Amino acid sequence: MSDKTNTSFGYPEPFARFYDLIYHSMRDSVDHEYFQNEISQAGGKVLEIGVGTGRLFTDALNRGADIYGIDVSRHMIDVLLGKLDKDQHHRITLQNIIDFSFDFGFDLIVAPFRVIMHLAGKEDQLNALNNVCRHLNSNGRFIFDVFVPDLKQLISGLNNFTDFEGEYEPGKKVRRIVTTQPDLINQTITVNFHLEWDEDNSVNIHNWEVPLRFFFRYELEHLLERSDFSKYKILGDYHGKELSNDSREFIVVCRK
Ligand SMILES: C[S@@+](CC[C@H](N)C(=O)[O-])C[C@H]1O[C@@H](n2cnc3c(N)ncnc32)[C@H](O)[C@@H]1O
Repeated sequence: MSDKTNTSFGYPEPFARFYDLIYHSMRDSVDHEYFQNEISQAGGKVLEIGVGTGRLFTDALNRGADIYGIDVSRHMIDVLLGKLDKDQHHRITLQNIIDFSFDFGFDLIVAPFRVIMHLAGKEDQLNALNNVCRHLNSNGRFIFDVFVPDLKQLISGLNNFTDFEGEYEPGKKVRRIVTTQPDLINQTITVNFHLEWDEDNSVNIHNWEVPLRFFFRYELEHLLERSDFSKYKILGDYHGKELSNDSREFIVVCRK
């Protein structure tokens, strides 16, 4: 049995390795269709920020999108590059939302599935928004999502909750156990991911902690109004519903 704890920021190798297995089943039914529709209607170049293992990117590319991707995790990007033909590798670069740079603009930039929640400080959040805005063509849009804080979970957190159990190869199991630690003053939920998987006749273990910075509605609005974006709209789900007390997501659509 091996036990490694990794508290560094970047998504680690075991997390990247099992990401698709876990999130294709957990997340595709929620956001896949929404982002594919937006990407297919963009009408020009698209950038996915926090492209990860390409859960959304590879489908978009296969459907003919002129799409590029950036991410700060070498391990996530390596999984994605393994899925792409060599002549498409130029589309993927290791860059940070805060200071990425391209010498061309985009008609649509997306940061799906909590990417913005990895930015803890106001300065980083604002720099990120303004850098995205700078890279949009006129009439370009930026879409990102963050979760609506669940008040019950903010008080009690999750304690050793098994959110995934399955086989990654015939006869080889992987299990993920999640514990969360809310911090109301710093507006973060630190998520501890405990992965266990069968390999080489033993059970491997990897622990990784990552803080997610949560937002309430009006903080999000104030932030957007401080940014260079001229307009924005916050939706309450991936079907275009208005915000309400039933909303679980803030889906933010910003215009240059
Ligand atoms: C939850 S994953 C989402 C991946 C993919 N967009 C999806 O929907 O499956 C968040 C991704 O954002 C990346 N990320 C975190 N902070 C970032 C930053 N500052 N700039 C660019 N990417 C970042 C992480 O490395 C990770 O791959």
